[in-house]
Amino acid sequence: MKYSRIIGTGSYLPPRVWTNDDLRAIMDTSDEWIQQRTGIKERRWVDQDSTTSTSDLALQAARAALTSASLSRDDLDMIIVATLSPDHEFPGAACFLQAKLDVPGIAALDVRQQCTGFIYSLSIADQFIKTGMYKNILVVGAEVHSKGLDKTTAGRDVAVLFGDGAGAVVMTGSDDASKKAPRIISTHLHADGRFAKELWIKAPGSGDAAAWLTHEKLDAGEQFPKMNGKAVFVNAVKRMPEVISEALAANGLTVADVDLFVFHQANLRINEMVAKQLGAPDDKVFSTIERFGNTTAATIPIGLDEAVKAGKLKPGMLVASAAFGSGFTWGSALIRW
Ligand code: ACO
Repeated sequence: MKYSRIIGTGSYLPPRVWTNDDLRAIMDTSDEWIQQRTGIKERRWVDQDSTTSTSDLALQAARAALTSASLSRDDLDMIIVATLSPDHEFPGAACFLQAKLDVPGIAALDVRQQCTGFIYSLSIADQFIKTGMYKNILVVGAEVHSKGLDKTTAGRDVAVLFGDGAGAVVMTGSDDASKKAPRIISTHLHADGRFAKELWIKAPGSGDAAAWLTHEKLDAGEQFPKMNGKAVFVNAVKRMPEVISEALAANGLTVADVDLFVFHQANLRINEMVAKQLGAPDDKVFSTIERFGNTTAATIPIGLDEAVKAGKLKPGMLVASAAFGSGFTWGSALIRW
């Protein structure tokens, strides 16, 4: 059987920084409130008047990952894009990215698992490579949240959390079966749809008696994300340690074996509680939330790329990654780097 491994990482953050004080100018909030509850100091948002879309950010991250992998776009067999903010309702952002990368014909798949989207995508790529169906797969997490948020005081509980950005990895097949060889060791995926409406966007929607999208729905703000923050918090701090423990137990490993934790970046307080429950020391937990906010499907690939660039993620290290988000969905991946 083949193994899959990550051979390149890349990321792209739009240049325009929005500090908490910048947000204070457009809604009733404060730097103190945001930092105290989330740890976020600033986030990047695309130019609000631009035509920049999710696949544009994905393209920049993908190019960087291909360069870092020393692969050409023509080597790719498949593109997977995890996003909850696709360019359009359909087709998927992976199709738009494939056209922009100019690699017609190869498989292109969108994964709509929100904050857990990258872990799900990594797992899907891992299965395709392990079976020998594909050799090289580009996996991207990308979001343009800023254009879809209610940036008034009414939407402040959600709007202050989210940033735009993209991260990408290039995965390839390996025959090296030795225990310390770089590879995806295992992935663990879960969902509980009973919580689907705790963090969601209602409209447009096919389940309403009225039309898919109406002026009334827009006037009611149904196109904006709505969140039960407390339910998200309580479940995230339970599920993330649980799914990391599941991954470690499945491989006969312990928290002490892990060199670096790269968690989804929803909220600094969530990740501090997760680390505390696991007994993971602070210096092994990589964080980007202060600078980039929550970029949903992009936080983990951005984190991996930033950790590589910062010299904190080196060949041979054991990486544990976990995410929790809308759905509810959660999952983990153990990676020998
Ligand atoms: N600025 C200022 N005040 C605010 C803001 C804001 N941006 N947002 C809400 N408030 C106000 C509320 O209106 C409320 O005011 P009131 O007491 O007068 O009614 C007050 O602050 C407290 O609101 P709560 O919702 O009780 O605040 P809480 O302490 O629970 O914190 C938070 C809210 C930060 C969202 C918290 O529930 C949390 O961390 N939840 C996790 C959610 C999360 O991280 N989601 C990320 C996306 S999902 C994911 O990626 C996993």
